[in-house]
Amino acid sequence: MHPGPTLYAPEVFAAQLRALARGWHYARCVQSAECGSDGSARWTPAHAGLTPVLLHEEAAFSNVCTHRGALLLDSPAATLRCPYHGRAFDDRGRLRAAPGCSPLPVGEDLPAFAREDLGPFKFVRARGDRAFPTAARWLDGLPMHALRFVDRKVYPVGAHWALWVENYLEGLHVPFVHPGLRASLDLAGYITIIEDDLVIQIAPGRTGGRVPLPAAHPARAANGQDVAGLYLFLFPCTALNLYDWGVSVNSVEPVSATSTRIHYERWEWAHTATTGVGPGDALDDVELEDDAIVERVQAGVTALLATGGALGSYAPAEAGARAFHRWLAELVSAR
Ligand code: FES
Ligand SMILES: [Fe+2]
Repeated sequence: MHPGPTLYAPEVFAAQLRALARGWHYARCVQSAECGSDGSARWTPAHAGLTPVLLHEEAAFSNVCTHRGALLLDSPAATLRCPYHGRAFDDRGRLRAAPGCSPLPVGEDLPAFAREDLGPFKFVRARGDRAFPTAARWLDGLPMHALRFVDRKVYPVGAHWALWVENYLEGLHVPFVHPGLRASLDLAGYITIIEDDLVIQIAPGRTGGRVPLPAAHPARAANGQDVAGLYLFLFPCTALNLYDWGVSVNSVEPVSATSTRIHYERWEWAHTATTGVGPGDALDDVELEDDAIVERVQAGVTALLATGGALGSYAPAEAGARAFHRWLAELVSAR
């Protein structure tokens, strides 16, 4: 059974945010210059309780000063110096200078975060020991290191973050919400696979391009035909969408119980001729259609929260959303 509208209640939002720090999060690009693999520092702004700064493409640290808690970096910098009282940290997160403090305080280095990479995509986990989603085998044999960053965009959505995720995790709504997609996708052949903290959706194509999968790729084995879209959801907040032209990333940022930002990045396979429009425009329409329906659901569950009421059972095609609810309940109840 669906956990019901209380999943989206403002009273549980803070606990969900704290729990999200035990999950793996995408360290998104802030501007194109930081997205290369040139060894430069990269950071992300606050996100689901995380404020990592990535240094030298090897490690991840908290981006919060250990003195009074000021955020450290908000732009690329050669040295890690706090703008508040001037504490300095080295590229291993070790405290190297603390103006006004002598001797140097001990035990006040920057906390290190766990880090995993999938090609050019970096992930961090601030707390706990939850394993990284089993996504690597779905990217095996793909030219991940030949991906190049193209652009980014932010979509504000007036809804609880979990509503956006649930909608992402099922194809049941496609014929109703995305008339443009219905024509190009073979919905009868749409497959959803659940692994550990990973939902894989495989869309066979009726027309158009194909994801450049190697011959032995598991998505080909799963549906026995070419794949127009391969969608990987890495619990709790990241989606990697593979197409013929490249990969788009959706990173979900919970803002409040009724407000979410979707950080979208577009990366292209190196061999793709950049059109500047094409995939971006088509995806824009789909994203806006999804966001509009999700806001409509938010209005509905807000009414249910006020008046009392339940939500219905899952259809088989909603297996991804059901798994997401189970994982989220585990994360929130973990100690
Ligand atoms: S808060 Fe960073 S030096 Fe004081
Ligand atoms: Fe959709």
